[in-house]
Amino acid sequence: MLSELVVELKNNTNAVPIFEDIANDLKTHIFLEETALFPNLSEEFRNRVVGLEMEHGAIWKLLDIIGHAIKTGDIDLATRRSESLIRVLKSHNLTEESDIYPIIDATFKGDVSELMKKNLPNGWICEVLRMN
Ligand SMILES: [Fe+2]
Repeated sequence: MLSELVVELKNNTNAVPIFEDIANDLKTHIFLEETALFPNLSEEFRNRVVGLEMEHGAIWKLLDIIGHAIKTGDIDLATRRSESLIRVLKSHNLTEESDIYPIIDATFKGDVSELMKKNLPNGWICEVLRMN
C-alpha cells in the first residue's frame, strides 16, 4: 500500500484517502501490539520489544510528517518520508515476523480474530511518544 501511496504522490493525484487508510492500519497495528500482544511476552523478550517500540515511535512520527506534508502540499517531502517509512517497515516487519510472532503464536491465550476487530481509540498514541 505504501508503494501505491508513493505512486499517487509522484502522479500528483489525491493521496489523502490512501494515506488515511495506511496511517489508520499502521497505528492500529501498533496499538494492538503494544496493548494486547507485547504485554503478554515474558521478561526475557523485553529488550527486543523495547527495540520494536522505538521503531513504532519512528513509524508514528513518519506518518505524522507525511500527513502534514500532504495537507500542506509538500509532495516532495511526503514522497521522501514515505520511502523512508517503507525502509523502516521492511526491517521492522522482518524482526517481528522472525523473532516475536512465533513466540506470540505459541503463547498468546486471547482470541486473535476478536483482537483484530478492535479499532484505534481516539487520542491513543504509542508508548515511546507518550514518554516525551
Ligand atoms: Fe510493530
